[in-house]
Amino acid sequence: MAESISISADPNQPLLVFEELIPQLEALWMGEYDEIACMANTAAALHSAFGHHWTGFYRVVDNELVLGPFQGPIACTRIRKGKGVCGTAWQRKETIVVDNVDAFPGHIACSSLSKSEIVIPLSDTKGEVRAVLDIDSVEPARFTAIDKEQLEHICELLQRHIYS
Ligand code: SME
Repeated sequence: MAESISISADPNQPLLVFEELIPQLEALWMGEYDEIACMANTAAALHSAFGHHWTGFYRVVDNELVLGPFQGPIACTRIRKGKGVCGTAWQRKETIVVDNVDAFPGHIACSSLSKSEIVIPLSDTKGEVRAVLDIDSVEPARFTAIDKEQLEHICELLQRHIYS
């Protein structure tokens, strides 16, 4: 196994960064089906490739989102369905991109430095949400259509790997 993620693309070309990153993620997951292990390396790889403020997963445990593997500052440990951006993405079963977290009703401010975020649900083969990927940025409106499309693709690959 490689010891680190290697990205040579210009950070201003995010599609190229994702194109380099995705095969490396698949290599990291190969032969490993423990969801926490796969989420942990995914969070670390995304965090090192993009340098966001916070990159991590919350898992659905006993009908609550519980903090899972992440990189970045300490975070709140439990989020109820429908609460905050993470709980809303879980309830709606869809990705939520928030350009300005202060304008999102009920946003849970784990860190006052976060200005924008994206949350993507991961579902099992029955369509039940099992986890969310949450990425927070210190920049307002940091997450573009390319980030949404590519991060959804990564979550689809990961959910197929760990939940089927
Ligand atoms: N921002 C999230 C809470 C989780 S932390 O930011 C890591 C939310 O409102 O769901």
